[in-house]
Amino acid sequence: MQNLKNKKILFIICGGISAYKSLETIRLFKKENADIKTILTKSAKEFVTPLSIASLSQGRVYDDLFSIENETEMDHIALSRWADVIIVVPATANTISKLCSGSSEDLASSVVLASNKQIFLVPAMNVRMWEHKSTKENLKKLKNFGYKLIGPKIGDMACGEYGMGKMSDPTEILNEIKSFLNIISINKKMRALVTAGPTHEYIDSVRYISNKSSGKQGFELAKSLSKRGFNTTLISGPSNLEIDKEINLIKVETAEEMFKATQESLPVDIAIFSAAVADFKMINKKNDKIKKKNILNLSLEKNIDILNYVSNHNSMRPNLVVGFAAETKNLDKNAQIKLINKNCDWIIANDVSKKDRGFESDYNEVTIHYKNNLKNKEKISFRKKSEIAEEIVDKIVTHIN
Ligand code: PMT
Repeated sequence: MQNLKNKKILFIICGGISAYKSLETIRLFKKENADIKTILTKSAKEFVTPLSIASLSQGRVYDDLFSIENETEMDHIALSRWADVIIVVPATANTISKLCSGSSEDLASSVVLASNKQIFLVPAMNVRMWEHKSTKENLKKLKNFGYKLIGPKIGDMACGEYGMGKMSDPTEILNEIKSFLNIISINKKMRALVTAGPTHEYIDSVRYISNKSSGKQGFELAKSLSKRGFNTTLISGPSNLEIDKEINLIKVETAEEMFKATQESLPVDIAIFSAAVADFKMINKKNDKIKKKNILNLSLEKNIDILNYVSNHNSMRPNLVVGFAAETKNLDKNAQIKLINKNCDWIIANDVSKKDRGFESDYNEVTIHYKNNLKNKEKISFRKKSEIAEEIVDKIVTHIN
């Protein structure tokens, strides 16, 4: 990447002795022509002044208080949407703890909580604080939320002690962000498609065959792809979930509609099939409500397999086709059979026999199987579906880049 022209960087400066280094960081970003806005937390103002930040960044500096002036000019949601990337520098132990609990008590934490962009934390703290179990656990949680860390490193600290917790140098921060934005620029040229949720296969005008899929896993995947810059289309069966405006959401009801919407969305570079498409549909759907009878015989036929169609589409096969396998037993074996039979590149197996994961739950546990290396399966242990999605998309980004 040449420089950071047209890139919008939101710095959140927190109160720590290393806050002075944020000045040099901002200077370097400005030298690369970045468009900069800054939020100063209340305690950051004890270490650096709004005036010095404004002079170096040539951009707006927000007080860490909700004010009518701030909210009218650009409210906290708009500010979080404005940024291409948010950098919390220095990320103190206190800030890390606040972000971990989902606090929104001030402008900085509200913007982070409301953000759909990548958040980078640049930790800086005393070695004992860094090594404290609570900091370690908080960071683990934040990493699982998808936050990225730059540093810290080992060295002499401003407090006179030596060890891990020293803030990364401004050039390291700049390089890390530049390479991240570079990947985003590459991803922006690519299209991703996700199917999600259940389908409804009508028996008559009021009854249907379906399953318990909520769409959560697929929606999280679409969000993660969009956050990494992919031009993302989400085709969803009936679901109550909402999605960011940046994602092209196509709502469908039946497998046939999902198939048609998928066909119309091709070509794409990456396709992920997380929808729980009903396997069968009525041969003759009744237009009126069927009257109650003691026995009702339904004649069903197989629905088209959307994944199978796409992964065998000669001219428009995406570069990466990822299927899901919902299994109740012999997870790995059955998933690998689907991987081969459906000709996908990866298949993601999840156990849907337990209540705490799979269908409906906010949590999941998955194993990724790769067509070109069946022995090399990778497990993503039990965690939130949002975190599972982040990990899957991380692997996709590494794979395609
Ligand atoms: O929606 P949630 O509540 O968050 O739950 C998530 C989930 C459990 C639904 C999801 O993680 C999942 O496993 N999705 C796939 C469910 C499924 O139908 O699996 P399957 O083994 O029957 O199908 C295998 C693959 O073929 C899937 O990628 C499926 O989308 C695809 N398929 C299946 C049938 C069909 N007619 N067309 C398809 O594209």
